[in-house]
Amino acid sequence: MRTKTTTGVTHYHIQKKRRAEFIEEWRKHRRTVVRRDDVALRPTARGMRSGVYMGWDGDSPTRCLDALVHELDAGGVTTVHRHSWDAQLFIVEGSGWSEIDGTRYEWKPWDAIHLPAWSWHRHGNDGKKTARFMSYSSEPMLWTLGMSLLEDRGHEEVRNLPPRPAFSDGPEGDDPYARRLRRLAQEARKRRSGRIHTPYDEQELLATPRGTRTKFLVDRAIGSQASGITQVMIQFAPGKTQSLHRHPGEAWLYVVEGFGHSFLGTAPDRGQHYRWKKGDLIVVDHFLWHQHFNDDPQREARLVRVHMFDSILETMRALTDPLVLFEEAEDTLLSMQEISQIEWPDDQRPES
Ligand SMILES: [Fe+2]
Ligand SMILES: [Fe+2]
Repeated sequence: MRTKTTTGVTHYHIQKKRRAEFIEEWRKHRRTVVRRDDVALRPTARGMRSGVYMGWDGDSPTRCLDALVHELDAGGVTTVHRHSWDAQLFIVEGSGWSEIDGTRYEWKPWDAIHLPAWSWHRHGNDGKKTARFMSYSSEPMLWTLGMSLLEDRGHEEVRNLPPRPAFSDGPEGDDPYARRLRRLAQEARKRRSGRIHTPYDEQELLATPRGTRTKFLVDRAIGSQASGITQVMIQFAPGKTQSLHRHPGEAWLYVVEGFGHSFLGTAPDRGQHYRWKKGDLIVVDHFLWHQHFNDDPQREARLVRVHMFDSILETMRALTDPLVLFEEAEDTLLSMQEISQIEWPDDQRPES
């Protein structure tokens, strides 16, 4: 009896083919600007309408992050659910609340909410008009690890739901097991005590030396304990731009106000310009050179930049060093723009 399987193909050849096919296939998923009008919202069993800007369930597969939009009508309350990944909201229009592990947070336009992994959460709208908000989550990242879990409990009372997964405190001692228990318990406590709500008015937009004003919406710098997803609002002065640079995707910019265009290219002089306006999502993919321009000569443009830095990008930097994962084309004419004349107006969020 033969006990040996013979194959004419070596491990080397199989791997080589598989790796080529993977990236070949993945290139088909690349996007540039996702238009607000192209994102169809559909009613869901959760009790709101949802649409996908970027993500598997909208046939735009991603690796780290996804981006969805939701609408919750006046008087509506969603089901309560929890998941193994964390997520963040950015409120676009309307007012309402999110209840996270039994605590209610009231929100208005341009507020941000962090939904920690495993927290029970639901949303409600007690205002007079439909609320619209973006959500960004680390689900695709956990998906690649086989660790994405979601549990929906309908309209059950939160106090009857099981608590977050338990963890053990570490004993004294310097052995590897004691050290691991202590390290993980400490990390879990930290992750469960971060900032949840960022009311828009809590901080000011701060002028940068580049013709923009920025503020953190969700970030380690303001006490958030997310998976590495951060949101920063960036306001561009009329007619201004940022410098041409590149870094790995997925980095997305949600257009809150205004219109403009972005250069996306495989080299600083080889690429195309893509127009965008309010409600669109600018997708910075793989290692493209990119530069964003506010095309309105009179008014500011406002974007919310989302990416996963503290976890994925830092990991990539550590693993690929000395490869440079952030490059800036300092010598481009456009990064030498005159900014001393900029006069910033008072910052005003929309009525809810
Ligand atoms: Fe959720
Ligand atoms: Fe960028």
